[in-house]
Amino acid sequence: MMDGFSDDPFRKDVLAGLSKPQKSLPSRWLYDARGSQLFDEITELPEYYPTRTELKILDANAADMANAVGTNAVIVEYGAGSLVKVRILLDALENAHAFVPVDISASHLKAAADELETDYPELLIQPIASDFMASNLGARLPEGDGRTVGFFPGSTIGNLSDAEINRFLTSVRADLGDNAAFIVGLDQPKPSDILVPAYDDAAGVTAAFNKNILARINRELGGSFNLDNFEHEARWNSEDSRIEMHLVSTADQTVNIAGESFSFTRGETIHTENSRKISRAAFSDMAAACGWRLEQTWTDENDYFAVMLLGAD
Ligand code: AVJ
Repeated sequence: MMDGFSDDPFRKDVLAGLSKPQKSLPSRWLYDARGSQLFDEITELPEYYPTRTELKILDANAADMANAVGTNAVIVEYGAGSLVKVRILLDALENAHAFVPVDISASHLKAAADELETDYPELLIQPIASDFMASNLGARLPEGDGRTVGFFPGSTIGNLSDAEINRFLTSVRADLGDNAAFIVGLDQPKPSDILVPAYDDAAGVTAAFNKNILARINRELGGSFNLDNFEHEARWNSEDSRIEMHLVSTADQTVNIAGESFSFTRGETIHTENSRKISRAAFSDMAAACGWRLEQTWTDENDYFAVMLLGAD
């Protein structure tokens, strides 16, 4: 039990989030080792189109992207998850100067860097262990003769609020300097009969991913959640253009966590994630307010997903 660790950020977020009228948990806590493994499984599901669609776009347009990036570039991946994606860009580049994966998990970073080193012996690989939302990475980036290029695939930007997006785009712009580019992957608005199954798959992998946050609370904070008393729900909120993940209490019940108790009525939910579907036009406006100008957009034949290249304005 970790009751003594009152400044543990997970504990603080859980106790605060479950004390609100609409109970909620920040989605970043979904990604412990088990959660990351389940997310990897999600990307392979037939209903979950974003990953394979983005990979197709990157594959089809890598030469175009490399052209826009130019030679001797420094590539900075924010939240270096899937090296599969950045490899497509690195393979297409003439001669990239350096690759800087930024990730909160030091062990994940080390594994990623080791793996790349073998395949790109010429490339300077300089990992930074940090939350991708942390600013002031600028001073820690290697100097190159080419553009400094941020890479942020996966539509992770859709998990952030307007204020967080503004803060992030502004700090990346400051980090990367006046010769910067920023390549961002963005899932697009589309009919709910495609969106909802992508977040509520038939095999139940997304349900397991969502419920895993309760198992994590039980394990790390001594919680008493009975996982059988909660159901996964994926809800399309059309007004805010976002998929919401919720955990629905199937009974009136009380749960104890770190010495505090939380009661749930039957049908009450914990809101665990927003996955916003931001149109290309809306995103371009958000970026413009943070010192970025839209240079290029690549998409698939259905316009399901967009990869956008911003340039420092
Ligand atoms: C990795 C955050 C972009 O929102 O589509 C997948 C996470 N959640 N299924 C997304 C997720 C449920 C995913 N992101």
